[in-house]
Parts: sequence; structure tokens; C-alpha cells
Amino acid sequence: MKQRDRLRIAMQKSGRLTEPALELLNRCGLSFRQSRDKLFCFGEGEPVDLLLVRDDDIPGLIAQGVCDLGIVGRNVLDEFRLTTGRDAAPLNELRPLGFGRCRLSIAVPQELDYQGPQTLEGERIATSYPGLLGEWLRTHAVNASVIMLSGSVEIAPKLGTADAICDLVQSGGTLVANQLREAEVLLESEAVLAGPLTLPIDERGDMLELLLKRLDGVIQVRESRLLLLQTSRSSLEAITRLLPGGPQPTLLAVAGQPDQLMLQALCAGEVSWRQLEEIKKAGAREMYVLPVEKMLA
Ligand code: PRP
Ligand code: ZN
Repeated sequence: MKQRDRLRIAMQKSGRLTEPALELLNRCGLSFRQSRDKLFCFGEGEPVDLLLVRDDDIPGLIAQGVCDLGIVGRNVLDEFRLTTGRDAAPLNELRPLGFGRCRLSIAVPQELDYQGPQTLEGERIATSYPGLLGEWLRTHAVNASVIMLSGSVEIAPKLGTADAICDLVQSGGTLVANQLREAEVLLESEAVLAGPLTLPIDERGDMLELLLKRLDGVIQVRESRLLLLQTSRSSLEAITRLLPGGPQPTLLAVAGQPDQLMLQALCAGEVSWRQLEEIKKAGAREMYVLPVEKMLA
């Protein structure tokens, strides 16, 4: 194959991962001129171009060396690993990217009395993930027929072509709309940066290293929140126990109120309403959750 000197990243052309993936790359200082057919986007500042394709094609494009990297769901990457022959170039999950979170689950009709994996013995399960489902069935010693469908998996039980399904679940809305319920989680998935096991040893390798460093910085800041709250000294211990992971909080005195403290904590991830409500129950007041824009340790 002809040697390339520009890095090429494959990503989903249109779907749930497209917008957040583009935004992430922009934050890493990459911007693209969209070409008319929208398949190939030329990178403007840095020597990094984009290929916009179907997500299921991404692992193959990397394995063949057509692209150096891909932004793709872990589910697609793992399915590729399990279903392609041994001689296909092995792929690596270089970084989890923290968006597009979903799970690959087995779902059954709501009225089915699900008692565990053995309930699926002898049943027909429709899926677009025969590799991951097959592996799970083997691990749990369940004999079931795997029915491969490339789309609209969730209507198979209603149509009578399957007894259960194995599909991606995000909000769970699709399952509810089809009178199904989640019975087993096979895989926790999110968008990942995928690449070959061995990286190119040329300009592309240097650019890749730079990109990974920027990515790490962007991900760290994006997931950080600064939590501010006021508490009495007596509630401090209970509150500290509830704080989402991160370095030790900072405590500040509140002028004129000696038994009150202002607490400031850097949290490693999102702080949910549920967590806030729990912390409040433990005695916190005046709570603020602030995004962190830049951070230099
Ligand atoms: C996935 C999956 C379900 C739906 C689940 O499809 O196949 O149909 O999302 O999401 P929910 O739990 O939020 O309802 P997607 O929209 O990604 O399209 P695709 O299967 O064609 O890739
Ligand atoms: Zn898809």
C-alpha cells in the first residue's frame, strides 16, 4: 500500500456518535473541511483527515490499514474481534471516550418469567451481534439458536421470529415500546478510539502521539466538575463520604459563622441530581456544580 503521511480517522457518518465525535476532535484542535460527497473530510490545521463511514465498517478499515484510527462503539469493536478470522490484524482499544454510553443486553418479553440464563435454553434469540451473544451463551452453557438480523431486532419477538433479543439499550425506550425488558447485560459500551496493535513509525505515529496527549487533556477536563457547597462542621464527615471520587476537598471558613464551612471538591465525573440530593440530605446547603474549562496541574 502507498505510504501516507497524513493520519486518517474513520468515524460514523450519521448516527449517535457523529456529533460528539466531531466535537471531541474539534476540542483537540482538529477542524475539517467537509467535501461535497461528505465521505472524506480534509483536515485543515493538522495533518489529520476523516473518513465518514458506516460504524460497522470501521474496524475492518483499520485492520486493512485504510485508516489509522477509528471512533467506534466498543460493541462494534468487540464484535469484530470475535467474528473475524484469526489472520485479521488485531485491533486495540486505545482510549475510552466517555460518550455514546449504552449496553448490549438480552431482553425478553415483559410477561416471560425470566429465571436466569437457563430460561433461554432452546430459545431463538435475534441479534446483530452473533459474536458477542455466542460468546455469552457458551460461557453460560446455554444452547440457543442465534438469529442474525441486521436491523429492527426489537420487533422480532412480536413477529414471532424470535423468543428474545440481544441488542443495544441506551434509554430503554425501545424495549418499553416493544413490551420487552432487560434480562442480562452482556457488555457495557461507549465510544472508543480504536487503532492497530502496532502504531506506524513515521510522521503519522508522531501525530498520533500528540493527538492522544491532547485527547487525554480534553477528556480529563470534560469529565471534571467543581462542586461547591456549604455545611456545618458536624455534617462534614457524612458529606465527605458521599462526594464523588477526586482529590481531597478544600475547606474554607465562612465569615461570621464559625460552625459553618464552605467545601470545594474537584469531582472526577459528572455529578448527578441523585448524588446532589443525597449530599443535601446529609446536611449540605447552597450547592453548586461547575464545569471546568481548563486545568493545568
Ligand atoms: C439502537 C438499538 C435500539 C436502540 C436502543 O439502535 O438497536 O434500537 O438504539 O436505544 P434506546 O434504549 O435509547 O431506545 P440505533 O438507534 O443506534 O440504530 P442502529 O441499530 O441502526 O445502529
Ligand atoms: Zn449500527
